[in-house]
Amino acid sequence: MSELAVQGINAAVKGMYEAFPYPDYSLFIPLRWQEAYASGSLFAQGLVRQKLGHNLLGEGRKRILIAGCGDVQAAIISRWEPRSHRMVGVDLSRPSLRKAKLRALMMLRPMRLQQLNLEDPRVDLGEPYAHIDAYGMLHHLANPSEGLQTLSRCLLPGGTMRIMVYNSRARQWMFQISRVFALLGLKAYDRADLQESVRLLQSMQRNVPALQDRLDGMKGIIQEPARLVDAFFHEREARLGLSYWLKAIHKAGLIPLGLMDRYAELDDLANPLLRMPADDLLQARIDDLRFENNLEFYLYKDAPPPLSAGVHAAPLNLRRRLPPLAWQRYAETKSLGIGQLWPLWQAFLSRTFQGQSSFLDRWARRIEPLALQRLSRLGALFPDQFQSRELQKLLLNPMQSTMEAPQCPGARSLTDAPELRKQMEGILLRKKLPLARMQWIEERLKRAQSL
Ligand SMILES: C[S@@+](CC[C@H](N)C(=O)[O-])C[C@H]1O[C@@H](n2cnc3c(N)ncnc32)[C@H](O)[C@@H]1O
Repeated sequence: MSELAVQGINAAVKGMYEAFPYPDYSLFIPLRWQEAYASGSLFAQGLVRQKLGHNLLGEGRKRILIAGCGDVQAAIISRWEPRSHRMVGVDLSRPSLRKAKLRALMMLRPMRLQQLNLEDPRVDLGEPYAHIDAYGMLHHLANPSEGLQTLSRCLLPGGTMRIMVYNSRARQWMFQISRVFALLGLKAYDRADLQESVRLLQSMQRNVPALQDRLDGMKGIIQEPARLVDAFFHEREARLGLSYWLKAIHKAGLIPLGLMDRYAELDDLANPLLRMPADDLLQARIDDLRFENNLEFYLYKDAPPPLSAGVHAAPLNLRRRLPPLAWQRYAETKSLGIGQLWPLWQAFLSRTFQGQSSFLDRWARRIEPLALQRLSRLGALFPDQFQSRELQKLLLNPMQSTMEAPQCPGARSLTDAPELRKQMEGILLRKKLPLARMQWIEERLKRAQSL
């Protein structure tokens, strides 16, 4: 891609995130910091320790980079970084950074927040980092693989990275809907158009059975302009597959540690957070939509072990909080009470900040094995917290023998959804666009419904 084309993409993405800072949370809503328990450098080093049996980074001041930080993520992650760690957040969008700065000020947490373009060939990210978070950013670059290499170049040997990149196969239906919006002439920068797109999505939810569940799961996104635009009107969303990302990771000199299985879709595989699934097994599950989560990789750059690793006190403001709600959101864990989760939460904080916790074998004997397995897949519990080999093995083992691929109701044509058809024709008429477009819209909608 020519430098000019890259600049064009970066300018369009910048314009979008300046008009719609992401995720645009109010400065005054209380954030549940504990839900971000798996986002910091210490969590990632904990994964390294579990895999290699030792730390890869020694003591000393560490620098943490949040690449494409948006308006809230640097603040959230900073809660999980000891105060001695220097936080740096970079983003294209000035308004996002302005809000991020206010947040840092309100938290009394010094942080460097800088506007820059990661794809600018002259970019200087400063001294190397111990950990880099690039959540939901790389697929918006013109050259994602090169972007990952840029980040990796400024990662210390032994450093870690968390990246979240889209699972494009699972987002195919969203891509088709975004094409429908484009054919209807709807624009993100027009408030009336955005409202119209919300009405269309609501109407699809009522009239297109194959999209109903998918749109039900997006209610929060549909109601928030920043998130709606991010999902359906993006200026740049590279549609790339697993093999592209695995190659990019390899090219960047990084090694995958594991994958967060947020939606419990990989239960027939060994614990994917602790054992990176084989490429073909993951690809097969992406292809038939057994795995629809985005790809949330933990990565590291290899190095010899240091002589001694840093130990930090877990901050009191985390110790006093309740455990993350995310730990209780699953069939296997929803009956766990606070009495059962509290000792785990405290042990999690000790392991994360101090490098180890007391052994949890006695505690585990009172918890269902499937709940222990789920908690481990979420990164709440690690084999090195048990003395018993049998319990250690349990956490690594698959939870199910097979997982079913989702079944989808048959596709519905616009003839069977007259309300939706009328709404779309009305938009074309108002925008003075040819009604003949309905035939392409119909085709896109059909593709959005096929698996
Ligand atoms: C979907 S948002 C994610 C924000 C944040 N990571 C989060 O999860 O809340 C993507 C962010 O990446 C930033 N971004 C996209 N391209 C970038 C680039 N070339 N250089 C720096 N930041 C970029 C955008 O401005 C935007 O804030």
